[in-house]
Amino acid sequence: MADKKFYLTTPIFYPNAKLHLGHAYTTTLSDIIVRYHRLMGDKTYFLTGSDENTQKMVDAAVKEGKEPLEFLDGIVANFAGLFRELEISYDQFIRTTDQEKHWPGATALWQKLVDAGDIYEKEYEGLYCVGHEAFLTEKDLVDGKCPDHGTAPEFLKEKNYFFRLSKYANEIQKKIETDEYRVVPESRKHEILSFIKNEGLEDVSFSRPHKDHWPKGLGVPVPGDDSQVMYVWCDALANYITALGYGRDDELYKEFWPADVHVIGKDILRFHAAIWPGMLLSAGLPLPKTLLVHGFITSGGKKMSKTLGNVIDPEELISEYGSEAVRYFLARHISPFEDGDITREQFKEVYNANLANGLGNLVSRVLTLAEKNLESAVEIETTEFPMQLRNTLDDFEVNAAMDFIWQHIGFLDKHLTENQPYKEIKTNLELGRSMIIEEVKELTKIAHWLAPFLPETSKKIIEGIMANKKPENLFARKD
Ligand code: MSP
Repeated sequence: MADKKFYLTTPIFYPNAKLHLGHAYTTTLSDIIVRYHRLMGDKTYFLTGSDENTQKMVDAAVKEGKEPLEFLDGIVANFAGLFRELEISYDQFIRTTDQEKHWPGATALWQKLVDAGDIYEKEYEGLYCVGHEAFLTEKDLVDGKCPDHGTAPEFLKEKNYFFRLSKYANEIQKKIETDEYRVVPESRKHEILSFIKNEGLEDVSFSRPHKDHWPKGLGVPVPGDDSQVMYVWCDALANYITALGYGRDDELYKEFWPADVHVIGKDILRFHAAIWPGMLLSAGLPLPKTLLVHGFITSGGKKMSKTLGNVIDPEELISEYGSEAVRYFLARHISPFEDGDITREQFKEVYNANLANGLGNLVSRVLTLAEKNLESAVEIETTEFPMQLRNTLDDFEVNAAMDFIWQHIGFLDKHLTENQPYKEIKTNLELGRSMIIEEVKELTKIAHWLAPFLPETSKKIIEGIMANKKPENLFARKD
């Protein structure tokens, strides 16, 4: 398995506001999957970034009285800060305003679509939702408003270049049906297939007139027509290959494309399971292998979103509980395939039950015993990932993988209580010690298994075992 490559991408985030816990979910889920593959010996490449050529970013900057490009730098620095805190082990952060890294590839890809005869000009009128950065139809609206953003779309009439997506509908459908482009979970595969079958795929508006109020450097110019910039989703989707050097220096591209997994949330399924494969087919490029579609984090039963005003700031949770507790919650208590609700009360409850009392208490019990009774540290042995853990992670069932580990935490805790090595040691030193060594070995396994999920905790436990000392400050109880 060691020479396998594994390329995973997150969506690129809109920098119109700070990231909330929903965004942190996408990134943490991605990070866990990549760390697992890295541990298995795969050669991994992990891409994330920001989707900057957008109207909503300009609106947000204007609202704060800032120049858009200056506003962007502040927000993007903030994203990077959050990702550092959350221990997101990405290899590259691509920004779509990066004229050196992103624009040449986006331009080259556009040119391929032109060469295939798939770009044409048309006058267009329609309803544009800035929240989605997409045209909606009357059918999508509820009481004249976009149901996801609660805002009325703008009516636009303009000259656009169109992408002939309709030409690829059958081919896309086939690739998804046969799992050549695998959409996970099944329910999302059905969703996109029935959408293609029932509604077909219409051609997409792929450029916008360059706006006078947009600063220079925002929006990738359409080759050969300075009056137009690429539609933001066209240049955004291209990031998955431009970041690898497509169209400029394609060493990474050759090594890592096609992507093994694109991780996305359910709201951007159509862009990734219809438009993106359409663009790749038109350009004659290989399709990604898997699209992993997760649900939403809801708060009070509604999608967490800035527009709805119900966001939980991950920084706040991190400063109160630490980043590993946030990773723990997202990995274990949110299903990757369905929506999951979070409340601060529930967060505290599971923190106390499973981190402070569960894992934290177990580590403290085992290593206090070892520290007091063993003359030297127990040697660390290499540990295999058990098949069950590997199977769940290969199927992206990160929460089930966590349940498996916590089940073993429970077993070890029970074993310790039932076998009472702390009593045994008083009458039979040798036997008592060998019992403690066994417990430490079991703890070592758990620490290794935790590495993709809670990398810092895993390291602290291993260091504690190597120093034969209980680690300090592992998940203090919160009242
Ligand atoms: N910029 C586009 C993606 C372009 S990819 C070529 C975008 N950006 S976003 O910032 O709005 O969302 C980024 C990701 O966060 C999406 O996958 C979206 O589904 C996810 N989430 C946003 N809110 C979310 C929740 N409340 N819960 C879980 N994920 C959610 O879309």
